[in-house]
Amino acid sequence: MLERHEDYVLSKVTFASMKVTVVGAGAVGASCAEYIAIKNFASEVCLIDIKEGFAEGKAMDLMQCASLNGFDTKIVGATNDYTKTANSDVAVITSGIPRKPGMTREELIGINAGIVKSVSSSLLEHSPNAIIIVVSNPMDTMTYLVHKNTDLPKNRIIGMGGALDSARFKYRIAEALTCPSSDVDGMVIGGHSDKGMVPLIAKATRNSVNVSEFLSAERMDQIVNDTKVGGATLTGLLGTSAWYAPGAAVSEIVKAIALDSHKMIPCSALLDGEYGIEGLSIGVPCIIGKNGIERIVEVSLSESEKNKLKESAAGVAKTNALLD
Ligand code: 2OP
Repeated sequence: MLERHEDYVLSKVTFASMKVTVVGAGAVGASCAEYIAIKNFASEVCLIDIKEGFAEGKAMDLMQCASLNGFDTKIVGATNDYTKTANSDVAVITSGIPRKPGMTREELIGINAGIVKSVSSSLLEHSPNAIIIVVSNPMDTMTYLVHKNTDLPKNRIIGMGGALDSARFKYRIAEALTCPSSDVDGMVIGGHSDKGMVPLIAKATRNSVNVSEFLSAERMDQIVNDTKVGGATLTGLLGTSAWYAPGAAVSEIVKAIALDSHKMIPCSALLDGEYGIEGLSIGVPCIIGKNGIERIVEVSLSESEKNKLKESAAGVAKTNALLD
């Protein structure tokens, strides 16, 4: 089979060695490691967990896919030994508990805040120059916690939520249009929460044609609502949080850093007046490159979209206030 051009380019180009650490070898963390490896842009992925042997087992299982999935990335596992994560360029925090059916992401703060605080300190002790990607929920608040706990330059702390929510948004649009997701473009900004997401339906397109030319207002409202509860829908079906799409979404952010591609991805970023919001981290369009968040993009929003984003920020601020 002819290799796709991108695969050919990637597999033939040897990148300066990029090391990625993924903290948490649960379903999300292991999916992050798997997709990063399969996309073949990193030289090493270190998967670390607190459970004895768990990360080592997942790493070995994933490495046994190398000849089948054609990747050269080396995946290693570690149990609680952060020396194995040393000199990571990027560190992904997925550790903490996932939600159960009927729970909100915000309800996880009590347990996950302590874990994320401790993990971020351990990571930076061994990788002081790393870019941190936060996945653990409630993600916007955990991202804010890492800012508070580490005092890193704000471009080096990225919350992963919008990339996942936008993928779900595109899935719902493609489902409604019975077209390939690759024909669809759309972005979700705002908080990564069932009520706080702001799917920008008015900007969504099918091959550059606004989706409003194909769908009724009612159908577009349904897509927006289905997107906002996309995570909860899966938690209801699976009995726990999703992992494939979150893992794939993380890998896209890491790839944009690795390739310095300056890809625009909605990520949770610490705002300092952008969109009239400051002092919290929330999903906004970000240009992602080798320095992490290269730039926050202030796109034009309708009054309704501006108000929804402001309401979303108020919700994030309320959750942030629960941090001790
Ligand atoms: C989700 O929405 C885990 O928050 C993540 O699936």
